[in-house]
Amino acid sequence: METCMKFLFLAFATFSIIHQVQSQDQQGFISIDCGLPSNESPYVEPVTDITYTSDAGFVHGGKTGTIKKVSETDFIAKPYRVLRYFPDGTRNCYSLNVTQDTNYLIRTVFVYGNYDGLNIFPRFDLYLGPNIWKSLDLRRTGFGAVVEEIIHVTRSNILDICVVKTGTSTPLISAIELRPLPYNTYPAQTGSLKNLVRYYFTTSNKTILHPKDVHDRVWNPYFQPEWTHIDTTLNVSDSSGGYDLPQDVIATAATPTNASEPLIFTWNLESADDETYAYIYVADIQQVRANETREIEIVGNGKVIFPPYRPKKFEFEVGMLTNTVPLKCEGGVCRVQLSETPRSTLPPLMNALEIFTTIEFPQSETNQSDVIAIKTIASTYGLNKVSWQGDPCVPKQFSWIGVGCSVIDISTPPRIITLDLSGSGLSGVIPHGIQNLTQLQELDLSNNNLTGEVPEFLAKMDSLLKINLNGNNLRGPLPQALLNRKKGGLQLHLEGNKDLCVSCHSKFPVVVVVASLCSLVAIIIMVLVPVFILRRRKTSTGKVMRPSLEMKNRRFTYSEVREMTNNFQVVLGKGGFGVVCRGFLNNEQVAVKVISHSSTQGYKEFKTEVELLLRVHHVNLVSLVGYCDEGNDLALIYEFMENGNLREHLSGKRGGSFLNWSSRLKIAIESALGIEYLHIGCKPPMVHRDVKSTNILLGQQFEAKLADFGLSRSFLVGSQTHVSTNVAGTLGYLDPEYYQKNWLTEKSDVYSFGIVLLEIISGQPAIEHSRENSYLSEWATSMLANGDIESIMDPKLHGDYDTASSWKALELAMSCINPSSRERPNMTRVAHELNECLEIYENLGKRRSQDANSSKSMVHNISFISDSPSAR
Ligand SMILES: *[C@@H]1O[C@H](CO)[C@@H](O)[C@H](O)[C@H]1NC(C)=O
Ligand SMILES: *[C@@H]1O[C@H](CO)[C@@H](O)[C@H](O)[C@H]1NC(C)=O
Ligand SMILES: *[C@@H]1O[C@H](CO)[C@@H](O)[C@H](O)[C@H]1NC(C)=O
Ligand SMILES: *[C@@H]1O[C@H](CO)[C@@H](O)[C@H](O)[C@H]1NC(C)=O
Ligand SMILES: *[C@@H]1O[C@H](CO)[C@@H](O)[C@H](O)[C@H]1NC(C)=O
Ligand SMILES: *[C@@H]1O[C@H](CO)[C@@H](O)[C@H](O)[C@H]1NC(C)=O
Ligand SMILES: *[C@@H]1O[C@H](CO)[C@@H](O)[C@H](O)[C@H]1NC(C)=O
Ligand SMILES: *[C@@H]1O[C@H](CO)[C@@H](O)[C@H](O)[C@H]1NC(C)=O
Repeated sequence: METCMKFLFLAFATFSIIHQVQSQDQQGFISIDCGLPSNESPYVEPVTDITYTSDAGFVHGGKTGTIKKVSETDFIAKPYRVLRYFPDGTRNCYSLNVTQDTNYLIRTVFVYGNYDGLNIFPRFDLYLGPNIWKSLDLRRTGFGAVVEEIIHVTRSNILDICVVKTGTSTPLISAIELRPLPYNTYPAQTGSLKNLVRYYFTTSNKTILHPKDVHDRVWNPYFQPEWTHIDTTLNVSDSSGGYDLPQDVIATAATPTNASEPLIFTWNLESADDETYAYIYVADIQQVRANETREIEIVGNGKVIFPPYRPKKFEFEVGMLTNTVPLKCEGGVCRVQLSETPRSTLPPLMNALEIFTTIEFPQSETNQSDVIAIKTIASTYGLNKVSWQGDPCVPKQFSWIGVGCSVIDISTPPRIITLDLSGSGLSGVIPHGIQNLTQLQELDLSNNNLTGEVPEFLAKMDSLLKINLNGNNLRGPLPQALLNRKKGGLQLHLEGNKDLCVSCHSKFPVVVVVASLCSLVAIIIMVLVPVFILRRRKTSTGKVMRPSLEMKNRRFTYSEVREMTNNFQVVLGKGGFGVVCRGFLNNEQVAVKVISHSSTQGYKEFKTEVELLLRVHHVNLVSLVGYCDEGNDLALIYEFMENGNLREHLSGKRGGSFLNWSSRLKIAIESALGIEYLHIGCKPPMVHRDVKSTNILLGQQFEAKLADFGLSRSFLVGSQTHVSTNVAGTLGYLDPEYYQKNWLTEKSDVYSFGIVLLEIISGQPAIEHSRENSYLSEWATSMLANGDIESIMDPKLHGDYDTASSWKALELAMSCINPSSRERPNMTRVAHELNECLEIYENLGKRRSQDANSSKSMVHNISFISDSPSAR
């Protein structure tokens, strides 16, 4: 915070020094000077050369003010001298158009500056979308100013920044600044990053700003008395992959004056529970003789966070010199220490440093299509309701008046299910945009001045249970479809519309023609839609928790286990952990995994699996019937999966059985849904860490279930696992990024699933030493590079697949194994795309059998072919 504070002043103190005229690239920058009159917008801020615009168009309410001129405010930069304050409403929001899934530096500035002459520093809350960002108290400086800065990945195309009244003071805001950052920079294991410190080490007192920093970070000078300053006039090159440090920042450094002492930097956390990241920028900027070595060890709070590092000469790399696992600091006091290793002949050095803490924004925003729909409705009607700002549903205390939502849990996007606009003075026709609220159950438009006919689309909104149109000026006949819905139980209220005839027959032939055309369309839709709906249903019921009544989880004694397996008579499989035996429990078959005493899959993994499976239920996760935990005797009892594992079927080990293309796609979809459930359906979310074809089991109807959760981890355990201890999984399926960086995210499962998908497509095993490229990922990449697409397909399919769906599946598999985890799709996307593959395949099949040899199906084939996959 103090870092940022300084720049308010220094922006002006350095005005004449660093003023540069040439225009810099400000691609994607959003720079809003809140309270600026429209007629003065836009303008170029002379110090930073950044173009600021007025906030008109981003916010609805509020009034504008200007800070009072007192000596210390002389230094306040222009964008922060005017402000917008919000005497009305509890929550007031700025709605910004951003790019989804983009890493943004987001800075908000609040300067009270006694604008109202009352000299009372306000206190209020700042929200990012539905989540609290910070409780602000502007008493921190003489004239009341606060800067909050985070690095955050956007989840949708809309970003709401809101100020919320918490007591009697009036919220205000001076500026909002958004800067898109390069992909893959500043990753956080969970949540977003809040900036605490951004220093470069120099004895000068120059703050480095845009345009020198192309991302508009503010670098403050910092130095300690026991340090020696070094700098260079030579060019220091940047191979950091997007951190783009200004030359002025990286060309100076600190080194300990007493060469045998370490460089130490300490900082305090706002809360002792915070997790923190240190980004340490190191480049050797001294001419080092050939017989000299500089090797640095970096220790954070007593733990090595980075192994011995030899800084590159006149080149800096970063992303490397940071703790991948967030640090926790006892008592909230943190420290990094750079010391020379015994091999080193030179003291350590450090050029710049950024410190962040993790900040969580756990509440999901309302489904974006619902948000767009409701905003469209509001603008169609010209509604200007004070509460209709920010997220429509969450947090609940600020939800829009008249809008009702279903909020399942914080990780599920809320949906709008009721809309009450009664007595809102609406005029005009009932807008079409209502049909985009696809989960709406109750619609109340009573007591307005709505005109026109009752639209047919209301009948097509399956979710609707109740429509109230009382007290309007609607006219004409009521659509037959709506009357049919009414018979089917829809509550429909139409009183007080004097020109509306409910059971009249239309006198106008035009209407009849239109109606019959419509019903023709409706019939066509009714024929086509069920296919899609059926598939949708399947997907969504997949997420429903299964009541585990018939298979109640329970604990068994070892003698019961022995009895149910008839003394471990029939062994179904063996592994590093022990054996899997067949058993019978209440006359039902079960699979009993008996964990051997010498197993490497120790007690910890057994416990992980039991705890996970007792808590998590999903149709695509194998379910646990019971377990045995008796001293050294451990066993897990699962539901029996008649058809073994996927690998056996792909390798032909299961004799006659043959998986055709559509069965393979179904198995892929179901496995993907199981993994997706772990990632987004569980709380906390889980990573499976051992997705592979032998862990995908097949039931009697070849329904797929994911098994073996011994290595599963929740995303949030981060801080308790040391960096280098926990790479786990199976060779051939291991995410290279996780392997190299120890960076565990759900995308590692996506990688492994990509390999499984390649197995499904090609029939090839994940590792096969007799292949020229023994790793399947390499094999597929090289085949694709040679354009050898057909020969990737499993010959056991005997060509019985279609090009469109198989290539789409292949392209999906390749995107899952992208070396960069951020480029990989998430499992929701994967499941969705696989569903599309199946739809394509089945629709083509249908079309082919319906009109065999028709030229149309050829045309479709050709148009799909152009969509061929490419190795990326
Ligand atoms: C944001 O995008 C929407 C839809 O594209 C557009 O209507 C609106 O004017 C944009 N708002 C701003 C402030 O650019
Ligand atoms: C640093 O600032 C002080 C006053 O704040 C000034 O006297 C001094 O000359 C400055 N030093 C440099 C190197 O700019
Ligand atoms: C430093 O390197 C950049 C890019 O390689 C180049 O454009 C610039 O001219 C160099 N500056 C100096 C002083 O060599
Ligand atoms: C430098 O540091 C070492 C180790 O802390 C210490 O023993 C030595 O006295 C110091 N030298 C000077 C000149 O301060
Ligand atoms: C490196 O070589 C220089 C001159 O050749 C010598 O003065 C210096 O002591 C050497 N340094 C080490 C660590 O051997
Ligand atoms: C939002 O709703 C639409 C329409 O029902 C749906 O297609 C989409 O998947 C939903 N988005 C999310 C993130 O749930
Ligand atoms: C409904 O949503 C779709 C897609 O989001 C959009 O193209 C369409 O214009 C919307 N319809 C109305 C009437 O707003
Ligand atoms: C309703 O709309 C009609 C036509 O626009 C207008 O004449 C009438 O005054 C309106 N009634 C009310 C109560 O606003």
